[in-house]
Amino acid sequence: MSLTQKEAWGTRVGLILAMAGNAVGLGNFLRFPVQAVNNGGGAFIIPYLVCFLLMGIPLLWIEWSMGRYGGRTGNHSTPFILDNMTKRAFWKYFGVFGIFTNIAVAAYYCYIESWTMSYVWHSIAGTFNGLSQSEVAQFFKDYVDIGKSHSGLPYEAVIFYVLCLALNTFILSRGLRGVERAAQIGMPLLILFGVFLAVRGLSLGTSGASAEVPNASAWDGLNFLWTPQFDSLSNPKVWLAAAGQIFFTLSVGMGTIHCYAAYVRSKDDIALNAVTSGFTNEFVEVVLGSMIVIPIAAGYLGLDWVKENAGFGMAFQTMPYLFEKWGPFLSAMAGVMWFGLLFFAGITSSLAMGTPWMGFMRDEFGWGRRKGAVTFGLLVLALGLPTVFFYQHGVFDEYDYWAGTVSLVVFALAETILFAWIFGIHKGWDELKRGSDIKLPGVYKFIIKYITPALLTFVFLGSLFTPLGNDWQAAMAGLFSGAGWPLDDSSLVQMVANSGLNKQIAAATDQAQLAKLQDRRFYINLARVLLTLTFLGLCALVYVAGLKRLKGNNTKA
Ligand code: TRP
Repeated sequence: MSLTQKEAWGTRVGLILAMAGNAVGLGNFLRFPVQAVNNGGGAFIIPYLVCFLLMGIPLLWIEWSMGRYGGRTGNHSTPFILDNMTKRAFWKYFGVFGIFTNIAVAAYYCYIESWTMSYVWHSIAGTFNGLSQSEVAQFFKDYVDIGKSHSGLPYEAVIFYVLCLALNTFILSRGLRGVERAAQIGMPLLILFGVFLAVRGLSLGTSGASAEVPNASAWDGLNFLWTPQFDSLSNPKVWLAAAGQIFFTLSVGMGTIHCYAAYVRSKDDIALNAVTSGFTNEFVEVVLGSMIVIPIAAGYLGLDWVKENAGFGMAFQTMPYLFEKWGPFLSAMAGVMWFGLLFFAGITSSLAMGTPWMGFMRDEFGWGRRKGAVTFGLLVLALGLPTVFFYQHGVFDEYDYWAGTVSLVVFALAETILFAWIFGIHKGWDELKRGSDIKLPGVYKFIIKYITPALLTFVFLGSLFTPLGNDWQAAMAGLFSGAGWPLDDSSLVQMVANSGLNKQIAAATDQAQLAKLQDRRFYINLARVLLTLTFLGLCALVYVAGLKRLKGNNTKA
């Protein structure tokens, strides 16, 4: 135990960079632009910023406070940080989310991270030189279709995935110092590369227009994103998407921040640190994240193309081709910068995902860093290989939905209630204020107690019972006229039942199609079984740890 208490962050800058590195991730560059485009561009920004102020900042403060509070008593992961704040024993099982989410997200997150490693390599090797846009897109499709390979390296995706996990494991085995070091190197480079590419994106103007796309202009992309539209404010779908993005990008609702904050010395500031890392993330997301993919893609392919093709893989399927237009030297450099940036963004986040597990096993079972890091790597490998091998069957998306979306909201709602209502907002606020380097705006006491939980409840219910076609007005009208509340297949309730997929299966006419859909259902259920087993396994560990503590208590007291 004394060992655990000694481990702490080296410097304040190191801590902030590590926290910012945790938040700044693939979400900032790949997920944000897609969410913004899919939700009406300028229509997305206002709900997004409101969610940042009313949920993001409060949750950051809650999690930093809980983490440092837990760390004071030697708890570095959510099960016993939560347990420590209440008398009721069941809360520690809510805390399981704070380890589970990290492992499950790491499984598919490291897969994307490994793509970036491979793409850096291919940019240097000149693999993309002279390829047409459809060939670049095909390269990606073959890459994720394990066994097919464009580059002549069989199972390339698997090899890079394992390499990526090995690298993460190695850095994690060096403990907090390793994580801090990675952030100190990765974050400045990321910002440098980002600024370079953003300047390039901004100065592109209409110079990228071609015979096929005569009207292409980088400005169209930016105008689309930055012209606010107030009518979206009444659309819950946009709010849900905005809230989801805020969660993912700030890494709140995951247990990672608690763990990092548990290593902050008990007298050090957390209030300013939380805000600084949060705003750094927003700068990278809103400024850099919106000035690269969208304007560059719109500048060559036109805004309409971007709207039609927005998706996670878009950056991999287009960017190498767009860079090609800058000549062989600049294109290799831009490729290294862009995929290098994504790699640094990714690894500083995936390292963060390893720490809750390591902290937990160390606190409860006395495991050293090496053992913690290696077991984390193996767990992620076991959960992750199905996403690699069955990517096309939907395993990846299934993980992203349950672990990367639903879990966050459930956990965030639980911890907010715990913090503001059970632990008590007064005690919580005092905890946040302790050692603070800023004067905290008092209105946040009110926001944390009432607004944040209300918004979270709305988000949660909204996802549970998403109405048919996402048409809230029609659903409301239906409710009042007695027609009931028709659920959309994207609602959580229908997702559990695989309702959408089952309908597709029932409607399938040709044999091949049917087989494919049934396959998909099989793999989706497999993914769920794996996730459930992971969760239950962690619950069992927490249970055992609880028993151990009970026994230990006699001697400790
Ligand atoms: N915030 C990261 C991003 O924007 C993602 C992330 C970091 C994350 N830590 C996490 C997701 C822990 C789930 C769990 O890409």
